[in-house]
Amino acid sequence: MTMLIRNGEIINADSRVKADILVEDGVIRQIGEKLDAPKGTEVINARGKYVFPGFIDPHVHIYLPFMGTYAKDTYKTASKAAVVGGTTTLIEMCCPGPTDPVMKSYELWRGKAEGNSACDFTFHMGVTRFDKKSEAELRKIVADGISSFKIFLAYKGALGVSDEQLFNVMRLAKELGVIVTAHCENAELVAQMQQRLIDEGKTAPKWHYHSRPPMVEAEGVHHLTTFAAMNGTHVYTVHTSCRESVTAALRARERGVKIWIETLIQYLTHDMTYAEKGGFDRASRYVMSPPLRHKSNQEYLWHGLQQGFINTLATDHAPFDVKKQKQMGRNDFTKIPNGIPSLEDRVKMFWTHGVCEGRIDMHRFVDCASTQTAKIFGLFPRKGTIAVGSDADIVVWDPKYRGKISARKHYMNIDYNPYEGWTTKGRPALVTVRGETVAKDGEFVGKLGHGQFLSREPTHF
Ligand code: URP
Ligand code: ZN
Ligand code: ZN
Repeated sequence: MTMLIRNGEIINADSRVKADILVEDGVIRQIGEKLDAPKGTEVINARGKYVFPGFIDPHVHIYLPFMGTYAKDTYKTASKAAVVGGTTTLIEMCCPGPTDPVMKSYELWRGKAEGNSACDFTFHMGVTRFDKKSEAELRKIVADGISSFKIFLAYKGALGVSDEQLFNVMRLAKELGVIVTAHCENAELVAQMQQRLIDEGKTAPKWHYHSRPPMVEAEGVHHLTTFAAMNGTHVYTVHTSCRESVTAALRARERGVKIWIETLIQYLTHDMTYAEKGGFDRASRYVMSPPLRHKSNQEYLWHGLQQGFINTLATDHAPFDVKKQKQMGRNDFTKIPNGIPSLEDRVKMFWTHGVCEGRIDMHRFVDCASTQTAKIFGLFPRKGTIAVGSDADIVVWDPKYRGKISARKHYMNIDYNPYEGWTTKGRPALVTVRGETVAKDGEFVGKLGHGQFLSREPTHF
């Protein structure tokens, strides 16, 4: 199968060139001017369009048992949503509970994706307990191609790890060359604050924010980086939401800790008032952890992405429906399943509110939404760049398209969209995963099962 993408403007994190791209057997074979199309080649005219490397979402939840329920998507729904939005690789959090067998959980998560995904995928292996047996299984999982762990400092009594476990995860990760991704919020502070607020009769969604203010997240980052420093472990803070926690990470970076910072599209586009407005059905849609923050954080996060002190942009896609699941917390905000879906719309929103508003340039757009993730998590240069020899994960981007987002037409399996009615500028006109066309002009045209597991080598020594 051969494809020639002609006349586009190729935008990588570090280059910009008008050239053709020849794809053969799922790989980019040639980049150059006026390339010949071998017989039988599908020719795509990308004149007036940008050509980006496929976008990578470093933090999604698809199969997620959480807070007494399960996130709504499956690979059949989520991977369609991903590719229609230009995301060609997902890194899912494999999140076993503390009593679940580690290897079996890894196999369970992987089994949900294998044969069902339209895009490529890999996992951060969640560590929610640490003992001799789980350590032995983690070693096998790393040998199987998983080079990142995930830990939660939040969620006391559920997914959260103790300091003893944290220390041992850091030790093992350092030994294996694995990077530790972490949800940073002090679990005890959250638990105490939740109890205080509930005792005071403060049960509505807006109180969620008050149970986990910025200092709770900053403490989590400081805590993580102290344990990282003691072991020399490389760490990555997921869903970093505010100036306080970014600053805590930057201080650690100055002290020599190897730390990378992720923020989310939701924190750039939504502020805390979304979880305050309207009745329960409206406000509960916007409950996630860490919570949506005060608007003043947004320009700081944009600045961090443009300047490069924030590395990646993710979604933390975690869909729980309004009809049933969010209702679990109608009388108690601590029971609202945490999460805001955004897998399908991350790239469009980043473009519309970032590039089109002059907050970031196109190279940072590609870097934050694709290249940095590939580099940090051992996928580069197979993924994250348009280069000879790289996988042909390609997004032909139509900058002239104008649209409006609605849950009525999205591919995500969820009954609301946090961007309902928002206008978008630009969208993927064509998306390929290893040379196969999977999306065209907002429609899924690919095959479920085309997506492959991506084996990754440890890279952080
Ligand atoms: O609110 C969130 N972030 N839900 C998903 C689970 C997590 O903490 O990442
Ligand atoms: Zn989290
Ligand atoms: Zn998450």
